[in-house]
Amino acid sequence: MENLNLIRTKNPHTAANVVTDIIKEKIDNGFLNVIGLATGQTMIPIYNEWIKNEDLSFENIVSFNLDEYVGISTKSSNSYTYFMNEYLFKRKKFKESFIPDGMAENVNVECEQYESLIDKYPIDLIILGVGENGHIAFNEPGSPSNSLTHVAKLSDSTKIVNGKYFNNRETIPETAITMGIGTILKAKSILLVAFGEKKRAAINKLLEGKLDSNWPITYLLEHDEVTIVTDIV
Ligand code: GLP
Repeated sequence: MENLNLIRTKNPHTAANVVTDIIKEKIDNGFLNVIGLATGQTMIPIYNEWIKNEDLSFENIVSFNLDEYVGISTKSSNSYTYFMNEYLFKRKKFKESFIPDGMAENVNVECEQYESLIDKYPIDLIILGVGENGHIAFNEPGSPSNSLTHVAKLSDSTKIVNGKYFNNRETIPETAITMGIGTILKAKSILLVAFGEKKRAAINKLLEGKLDSNWPITYLLEHDEVTIVTDIV
């Protein structure tokens, strides 16, 4: 598949270096002004690497996060806002950072506004992880390929997998605000990072090269600039 550029790495640490080099080169050459950011365990070594790298500056970069749980306060350690502050923003300065407001009074209006903001600052590169069931951001199996930022219902399997990280007696919500597949595909380029056996099925589906709405990750086949950094294949 000529649109998929596959980079094999040994482990999450080497992947973090590869991702950092790609990002740094794009920033240095002026090709990266707006970045889409993900949360999750996959991202932690990458963000650590960014923090360590003193030559890497995001001071002129605008960021948009992919998603946020609905109804979880930004002060809660279960929110993605908290995650981003903890693992990146506290220690690396960005020009401006946007994360959907999962506590908005009207979440549908929040989704529309978030999408408009993305249209105002078109994303040059989005970093994506993938769920075990092939979800990207919170676009679960069965999601349409043209959706924009919306409120998505989490699948039972995602609630189990992600629910393990919930603490403080808070339970994982039923819904989240997420960029849609259509939003993600609007980005100029996509960098997908996936590690470990649990992600094998999703990566294999993508590499099979056939669109399958039960595996949202396969919608990346519709984009012409996708790089996969993985230890799986
Ligand atoms: C969540 C996020 C996704 C992320 C996925 C994988 O569901 N909404 O954006 O890709 O988790 O997370 P992990 O890296 O922890 O496997």
